[in-house]
Amino acid sequence: MRMRKKKHSAERIAACSDFLIGDPALFYGRSRDIFGNDAPILLEIGCGKGDFALGLAERNENSNVIAVERIPDVAMFALEKAKADFERRKASREAEENGGAAPVRDNLRVLIGNADYLSDWFAPGTFSGLYINFCDPWPKKGYYKRRLTAPGFLAMYRKILKPGSILEFKTDHGELFSWSLEQFAAAGFEILKISEDLHGEADLSFNIETEHERKFSAEGKPICFARVRITSGGEG
Ligand SMILES: C[S@@+](CC[C@H](N)C(=O)[O-])C[C@H]1O[C@@H](n2cnc3c(N)ncnc32)[C@H](O)[C@@H]1O
Repeated sequence: MRMRKKKHSAERIAACSDFLIGDPALFYGRSRDIFGNDAPILLEIGCGKGDFALGLAERNENSNVIAVERIPDVAMFALEKAKADFERRKASREAEENGGAAPVRDNLRVLIGNADYLSDWFAPGTFSGLYINFCDPWPKKGYYKRRLTAPGFLAMYRKILKPGSILEFKTDHGELFSWSLEQFAAAGFEILKISEDLHGEADLSFNIETEHERKFSAEGKPICFARVRITSGGEG
């Protein structure tokens, strides 16, 4: 994602520090300390400006969500949305008659960093679900290993996710999609659902739209979707 350098981004990010995982290595092996509870943790890689992560946290209020984005000026928007959303819910809870009685949902954190290092930051079996939406297609063959669905990444996901966890993948890029399905199968992941036109599905209620998805579907591009189970066997 190319974008002009944002003004005051360091200050804007610092203003959202409650929602930022500043140094993930500090939490290696004790990720419960990030949220202060033992709820399952879902992971989104390449969260962009955060719409999906916000929706995921809202739909899964009994889980926690960590959204990873490597470009600080992009992650900044996800952080600001997470903060604004929390503050809005907090204000509306306080306005209730018995304000403050129940805790306000606080289950989303953003991590600014490169997914290459996920297994340095998170111990085996940390996560219970993984979401990859509209990742960079790296169309030149020499760069395929940078794709977030490349065998090296799948082997890492198998480590940091609990066996049997679900991975969901969306893209508008047909070639990346078919290549990724091959990689999932080669890794021994169980394919649970495939759609080459997600928005043509009869029931779309499970879907959480991302920024790129909104743009691509408005342009009439079909959205490809796969849901797979990360099995403990196979390669990797
Ligand atoms: C095309 S955008 C999609 C953003 C969002 N998921 C959406 O669907 O609207 C891909 C995002 O993934 C991020 N990204 C790509 N490779 C990454 C990596 N290795 N680690 C973390 N973020 C990555 C990019 O910086 C970019 O913001």
